Amino acid sequence: MRKLFPVFQFIKYWLYQVNEHSLHSPFLYHFYTEIIKADSLTGFEKLTVLRKQLLSSKESLEVIELGAGSRVDNGQIRKVADIARHASTPPSFSRLLHRIIAQQQLNTILELGTSLGQNTLYMQQACPGGKIYTLEGSPAIARKAREHFDAFGANNIQLIEGNIDQTLAQALKETHKIDLAYLDANHRYEPTLRYFDQILPQLHDQSIVVIDDIHWSPEMNEAWTELRDHPRVSLSLDLFEGGLLFFNPEFKKEHYILSFRR
Ligand SMILES: C[S@@+](CC[C@H](N)C(=O)[O-])C[C@H]1O[C@@H](n2cnc3c(N)ncnc32)[C@H](O)[C@@H]1O
Repeated sequence: MRKLFPVFQFIKYWLYQVNEHSLHSPFLYHFYTEIIKADSLTGFEKLTVLRKQLLSSKESLEVIELGAGSRVDNGQIRKVADIARHASTPPSFSRLLHRIIAQQQLNTILELGTSLGQNTLYMQQACPGGKIYTLEGSPAIARKAREHFDAFGANNIQLIEGNIDQTLAQALKETHKIDLAYLDANHRYEPTLRYFDQILPQLHDQSIVVIDDIHWSPEMNEAWTELRDHPRVSLSLDLFEGGLLFFNPEFKKEHYILSFRR
């Protein structure tokens, strides 16, 4: 039954999704047409090569699982190819994060859950002059991500290793204000809300929080519902793969289920 949960959720999403014709606010209309729907593969060739290499890698890593894992995780030794296939953010969603950061000119980025660092690099390429803090708890995975950051010369990424339950406080001492936070680590109800509460004091009116896998499980669905109803959240967008939260108090409180995939 647990495996079918996202399938039912997707059917619901598919039935209720709307597009630009339902959007009246100029900000949201622009955000949807110029950012969410304006996908392009150009500029990501090097990252596509990295993804292909990881998907065909024969290497295995000893993984320490600190989060909810993925449905196909099996044991502590995992193939890099399986991690790249099952744990990484889909490239279409990574490109969306890239567009949000580039077009909204966001500079201080916090990512919970680095994995192999592919998504971090998509975000880094959108703000080469900014600073990206990314948190990963599994040492072998963190080592692999660092190799990728070095290979891309991405020296504005700071990887903080350890359990986010402890390292998030350490990261927040360095950030002071966060323009975009991407929560993609511990896909459970309680940690999702706890991490959000910890980050909240550093958010400003133009900040965006992105929550991954909002319909992956009943508890993530519940966490998403609670977050979009949070009094500080003024606008929430459900794209199925992830949810976007906005904090501008000038926005009328609204929630949209938006068509994202082509
Ligand atoms: C879904 S993956 C992240 C994928 C990544 N955003 C990407 O696109 O490549 C989740 C990662 O979070 C890490 N993680 C989960 N719970 C954690 C915790 N409590 N502390 C630190 N890392 C954690 C896992 O080791 C895993 O590498």
